[in-house]
Amino acid sequence: MCGIAGYVGHRNAAEVLIDCLKRLEYRGYDSVGIGVIGKKLSVFKDVGEIKDVREKLPEMHGNIGIGHTRWATHGKVSRENAHPHLSCDGKIALVHNGIIENFKTLKEELENKGHKFLSETDSEVIVHLIEEEYDGKIEEAVISAIKKIKGSYAIVVISQNEPEKIIAARKGSPLIIGVGDNENFVASDIPAFLKYTNRVIYLNDGEVCVIENNNVKVADDGGKEVLKEEKMVDWDIEDAEKSGYQHFMLKEIHEQPSTIYNALMGRVSEIEPDINLEDLESNIDEITIVACGTSFYAGMVGKYIIEKLASIPVFVELSSEYQYFGRKSGTVIAVTQSGETADTIGAIKEAKKYGCNTIAITNVAGSSITRMVDLSISTRCGPEIGVAATKTFTSQIAILFLIALKLGIKNSHLSNEELQRYVSSLRRLPLYLENVLEKEDEIIEIAKKLKDRKSIFFIGRGANYPLALEGALKLKEVSYIHAEGFAAGELKHGPFALLDEDTPVIAIVAKDSVHDKMLSNIGEIKARNAMVIAIADESDEEIDKYADYVIRFPSLPEFVSSIPIAVILQLLAYHVANLRGCSIDKPRNLAKSVTVE
Ligand code: M6R
Repeated sequence: MCGIAGYVGHRNAAEVLIDCLKRLEYRGYDSVGIGVIGKKLSVFKDVGEIKDVREKLPEMHGNIGIGHTRWATHGKVSRENAHPHLSCDGKIALVHNGIIENFKTLKEELENKGHKFLSETDSEVIVHLIEEEYDGKIEEAVISAIKKIKGSYAIVVISQNEPEKIIAARKGSPLIIGVGDNENFVASDIPAFLKYTNRVIYLNDGEVCVIENNNVKVADDGGKEVLKEEKMVDWDIEDAEKSGYQHFMLKEIHEQPSTIYNALMGRVSEIEPDINLEDLESNIDEITIVACGTSFYAGMVGKYIIEKLASIPVFVELSSEYQYFGRKSGTVIAVTQSGETADTIGAIKEAKKYGCNTIAITNVAGSSITRMVDLSISTRCGPEIGVAATKTFTSQIAILFLIALKLGIKNSHLSNEELQRYVSSLRRLPLYLENVLEKEDEIIEIAKKLKDRKSIFFIGRGANYPLALEGALKLKEVSYIHAEGFAAGELKHGPFALLDEDTPVIAIVAKDSVHDKMLSNIGEIKARNAMVIAIADESDEEIDKYADYVIRFPSLPEFVSSIPIAVILQLLAYHVANLRGCSIDKPRNLAKSVTVE
């Protein structure tokens, strides 16, 4: 996720763009760049946050320009990889948010035609494609270029030869136009330009737009004009940064259809029977996962998936324990959203001392852990602002899933048919997640039944056991209600002593080999008069006879359902906390990244 912006009007474009980008910094902040057309097109870009780059910014005169704040996906954090990217003749500049799946093939074709690339990014191919197609009309060149790219994009383009217009186009990544008086804006999100105007035009996928200071013309990807309605936004700046959501946590929960899409994009294909996961080696025969908190639970889910699909033993250890007591052999995978957690960094240091192969699954390119490990795999979620991890948890599971598929297919534990079955349901996950998010009102009704309880249990079996642990962690950290997760079979070994009619139990029930066992565990709970809320497969016809309330998740192959279940648990925790009026984005005593041991 990156932030992009464009401005054309009567003000100094560089100043407006820096201002807009500041409001988009939540979308990415590893490098910044702007391009302005004055007498000619000039670009300034550098690594760092906007406040740092701004200090180095030279005088840039001109009333039209584009800007970008980056969250690295393809290519390391470096000045070359920062946007805008330029055509070979330096006359066309482009900023991009999204992922181009076929960039390697396009890059090869363009290099054969003589184009010189300066960055490692997928984005740079688009500006060279536009240059290749350019025949005097920049909008036509953009339309021809986007026909050749596969993947997701929001792009904003300017050309020195046509210094009065900006071209913007989107597919799968957001882009909104801000309509002003004798000036117009375009950006990834409304807060970017809200200080200047609250009149907006929402672009749809496939649309291309020509923006001039007093005219906005939108066309479909065939070039046919589309009439768009201007809308008024009545948010204040603070609301707008959350895109109208009350809290970042809720916004981040709702981003999951697109973050899961990003995590999978370019890495799975329904045609090729392989998984393309950076340079992951396939000769791995033993894995230890090290992580803390929510990332630890993602690691536990990963253990079930990797052991089943690739038949490779996986040990999951808390980073704080691993450093001192863990087994230091084979491949060690650190799962860490921030890449800065001191315990996990300590664990990787130890693993390296013993010569282990080290991998990090992280959301922050350039974080400390990425500089220590042999291979780093990005979850590509964009910044997570809420202290409670949500979108990064589901993307960590998605990446561990891809590792399992990659290793399983390489060691022939998994057939091509099984691989394709998993790949096609993973690819449909964003759609299923949209459906799950539509259940929010139903989940709020359940949250009302939980909000005044003193203690709540979560239970599950198999990969749903770590989800029960995560459901309990999420609830306790944002709502301050005591919550505990258990493997369902364990209640009778002690925790039953705590169970009474005031302790609701959230039971995660899949239609799997332990379905009957889960039903009998629920029976045991009901016998103690506790309320049971089941999170169950939509095809489960028996569950209504056992549970007091049921929230359904889509029927999906084993393990794929972990992701929609996690989203239901997150919504439940969020709404319980919200009904209790808690400080959701900054729970007491907690920090987003724990950099002390
Ligand atoms: O950045 P990390 O993933 O390494 O952080 C690990 C934990 O501190 C983190 O997952 C924490 O448990 C979550 N914020 C809980 O929602």
